[in-house]
Amino acid sequence: MTDYSSLYLDLLKRSLLNCVYLDNELRIIYLRNCIAGSEVFDARILHDIRHERADAYAEMVAGRTNGRFFGRDIRNAGYSHTMIGRARLDMLHECLDTVVRDGVVGDFVECGVWRGGSCIFMAGYLKVNPAEKRRIFVADSFQGLPAPSLAQDMGLDLSKAVYPELAVDDETVRENFAVYGLASEAVVFAKGWFKDTLPRLQTDEIALLRLDGDLYESTMDSLEALYDKVSPGGIVIIDDYAIEQCRLAVADYFARKSNDLPMMHKVDWTGVWFRKAG
Ligand SMILES: C[S@@+](CC[C@H](N)C(=O)[O-])C[C@H]1O[C@@H](n2cnc3c(N)ncnc32)[C@H](O)[C@@H]1O
Repeated sequence: MTDYSSLYLDLLKRSLLNCVYLDNELRIIYLRNCIAGSEVFDARILHDIRHERADAYAEMVAGRTNGRFFGRDIRNAGYSHTMIGRARLDMLHECLDTVVRDGVVGDFVECGVWRGGSCIFMAGYLKVNPAEKRRIFVADSFQGLPAPSLAQDMGLDLSKAVYPELAVDDETVRENFAVYGLASEAVVFAKGWFKDTLPRLQTDEIALLRLDGDLYESTMDSLEALYDKVSPGGIVIIDDYAIEQCRLAVADYFARKSNDLPMMHKVDWTGVWFRKAG
């Protein structure tokens, strides 16, 4: 029998990653280069860029699997609705399956949502699992990352002034949910800096917590406000484990609690996840 739910979730992932229209991203980069004068316009290239620029296209396809920007340049972040790549999206899917299968109580929370894609996937997941009455908390400043203020973050300035690409306003994220037909009352926006919003988040139990705030400060603020609310058997996903500042925050948090560092399961070059004991 055809499993339409799996087909839907697979197509949702491909759409969130803009895999279906990926050659248009290459076209835009090509046209940008033509305008900047680094390439000469050729209508043939524009028409069939996938084959005319096969190597570049292959790099772009690979980037959608491993969540790396084309040319390792955030200015090529492109038009996908999530930057996490297929491997981490698949792992998010598996983690959702696990908490549902095991009856872990609680909501789904993401700290650091950018264009909203990971949370939109969670909303699609709930759509095909209508018995699951869970909420999705979408927490972000919606104006990019804070400028570094802690010693641990010095030298890592990802704020809007330096990286405007990382700042996506909440109206745009709400529209992104709507274009997939996934806007709903179960989706709760928490707008503001984590240190202000997360301690007041209106949830007592979290089944899945996704941390994607990059900085020491953002990771620490998320853990301090929310880790104790993660249910026994709940899953914590840390997207930025390749970033030293993020790793340090996780280590410091568990050291402060006098807890061992949980055993991390590696997803790809940066994503890890672990399960809370219980
Ligand atoms: C790497 S992006 C998140 C990517 C996203 N999870 C995805 O699926 O593509 C980081 C996001 O975290 C937000 N952010 C980082 N630190 C924050 C903080 N301390 N308070 C509020 N938002 C923060 C930024 O605004 C940005 O949208």
